[in-house]
This record gives sequence, C-alpha cells and structure tokens, in this order.
Amino acid sequence: LAEIDVDVSQVAEGQSITAKWRGKPVFIRQRTAKEVEEAKAVELGELKDPIARNANLAADAPATDVNRSAAAEGTDAAAKEQWLVMIGVCTHLGCIPLGQSGPYNGWFCPCHGSAYDTAGRIRQGPAPENMAIPPFKFTTDTNIRIG
Ligand code: FES
Repeated sequence: LAEIDVDVSQVAEGQSITAKWRGKPVFIRQRTAKEVEEAKAVELGELKDPIARNANLAADAPATDVNRSAAAEGTDAAAKEQWLVMIGVCTHLGCIPLGQSGPYNGWFCPCHGSAYDTAGRIRQGPAPENMAIPPFKFTTDTNIRIG
C-alpha cells in the first residue's frame, strides 16, 4: 500500500504504536513533555547526524527537535511537537531498535549497540544516520496518513 491511515486516538502521552508501511515498521509515539524537553536541549553540534532526515522537509533541513517531529508540517505546531513518526529501522544494518531504552532514553538497537535519543537521532554506536521520518501528515487530530 502506498498510503496508510493510522488512528492514534488511543495513543496517550508516553505511549507508542507500531504501524506497518511498505513492509517496514513505523513507530508512532506521543512523547512525554520531558522527552521533548530532552530532545530540544541538545545542540545541533552534539549530533552525529545534524540532518533531519525528514521526507516532509528539504533534504538539508537541520535535525532540530521540531524538524524531527510532526510539528514540522507547519500546522498547529505547538500541539504536534510531541508526536514522533519514524521508520523503526536502525540505519546501521536494519535491525529494529527497542523503544524507551538505551543511554539516551530513546531507542536502542541491540544488534550492535546504536543508541538514539528521544527524537530518534543517532547519538552513539555504529549507525550513521538518524532514523528516517516518512512522508506523513495529520489529516484530523487523531488520524495520521503515512505515504
Ligand atoms: Fe543497529 Fe547495527 S543494525 S546497530
């Protein structure tokens, strides 16, 4: 399927679901305020990969927290920054990272130890890039269309 609709009305703050799009897992997480704060506090210079890797933005958009989040689509930004929609595939060799784990409290890939932060940005280990953000948009307050 080129496009899928995902109902996120049951995803409370601090919870995640995994959708499947083009054969790949897509992590959809409503982050806590603390997770967003942690991600916003990181300077771009601290990042191994300073590029947003967000299919909804220009290819060279910087990896700020806003640019990694659903707020990047521009509408209702403040209300959407807590949402992270991300292809759940480690950019090293393609394992599926575990959520809310690792030294950066984000995702941790058990295959070779790549650690991602609460915005899915690579912070430690062999993975070269931030986890990719697929094309998506909120079509209503509770529906995300991916693709
Ligand atoms: Fe994730 Fe190697 S596949 S660290």
